[in-house]
Amino acid sequence: MLSDIYRRELRDLRISVTDRCNFRCTYCMPFDEYVWIDREELLSFEEITRLTRLFVELGVSKVRLTGGEPLLRSELQTLIKQLGEVPGLSDICLTTNASRLVEKADSLRAAGLSRINISLDTLDEEKFKRMTKREDLPKVLNGIFAAKASGFKPIKINMVVERGVNDDEIIPMVDFCREHELSLRFIEYMDVGNANGWASNKIVSKKEILERIHDVYPTQDGDRERVSDPAIQYAFSDNRGDIGFIASVTEPFCTNCTRARLTADGKLVTCLFSNDGLDLKTFLRNGATDDAITDVITSVWNKRSDRYSDERLEALNSSEGYNPRRQTKIEMITLGG
Ligand code: GTP
Ligand code: 5AD
Ligand code: SF4
Ligand code: SF4
Repeated sequence: MLSDIYRRELRDLRISVTDRCNFRCTYCMPFDEYVWIDREELLSFEEITRLTRLFVELGVSKVRLTGGEPLLRSELQTLIKQLGEVPGLSDICLTTNASRLVEKADSLRAAGLSRINISLDTLDEEKFKRMTKREDLPKVLNGIFAAKASGFKPIKINMVVERGVNDDEIIPMVDFCREHELSLRFIEYMDVGNANGWASNKIVSKKEILERIHDVYPTQDGDRERVSDPAIQYAFSDNRGDIGFIASVTEPFCTNCTRARLTADGKLVTCLFSNDGLDLKTFLRNGATDDAITDVITSVWNKRSDRYSDERLEALNSSEGYNPRRQTKIEMITLGG
């Protein structure tokens, strides 16, 4: 098992399969145009599967496919089937905006996908349009129901909460998710990338959200299912489901971060807030052996010292404060969240 300088093991791999997305969420990629990755620079399914096999041999047991919007990559089910044949890989998950799930849910399930997480920030059509710059709320809702009908369980709903934009949707979203047996997770608005105009006063903290919900639906004590999970889960006292919080800003979880990321063009990135990654594609395409690639991954992970969210909290609490533009970062849409 690989270990970094803070003794964090490499356990999870988030793989971005495309940087394209059909939405333009204001908190992620608000620009119409952007410098997109060239088609020939995208890793092929065979390249992704080979790298995944090497990561699994190094200790990874869970893979999450992300984007951009991963369902824009054609034939994604073929990749899922190939990944299912990697010995030792127990969990293949997907994070999607659900706009294409009506057509794809059954084939993803049949291909062996274990779990789906879905981004949904509001149930109000106007707010949805404001936040995503698209009018696809009905498609997304039908996509969620299609995933349920295909047998995916649990289905987690990711809601990024932005003050003054959708924080009045907290209780309606809880009602909706309880009614439909979905696991809702609230995500504190993060300063990922450089495009989103993040400011600390746009965050609604985990504490505030939990208090607001607790007044309506009391919850029990919270905990992480696995120590390395980003989310803390709270069961409702009436035992009708649970809610989770990904409180990267106010309660960062870098101490137990076991996640590596692979961009769609094959860069190995060791933190969501990194400004660069190590180009594994060049090794793949120059005929490097498995051992050589394994050595490169090992040396990157052994040197890893990332703890960006911990540092941000230290800065927010210091007299100088925190400057979100202190370094340029890879955009979330490229990095896969
Ligand atoms: P589970 O396997 O269901 O626990 O998935 P997940 O929560 O790890 O993945 P998902 O793609 O649903 O991510 C939910 C949110 O957590 C997104 O906003 C991610 O950017 C954020 N997140 C995931 N991993 C990290 C991390 O290592 N650091 C930070 N700061 N945020 C993360
Ligand atoms: N802050 C918090 N979460 C974000 N996501 C995208 N951008 C941000 C941000 N700035 C979330 C999406 C998706 C997940 C992969 O990342 O809502 O669910
Ligand atoms: Fe929105 Fe996800 Fe697309 Fe980013 S990648 S613009 S969060 S749907
Ligand atoms: Fe891991 Fe970086 Fe997120 Fe901290 S900020 S939990 S080191 S990805």
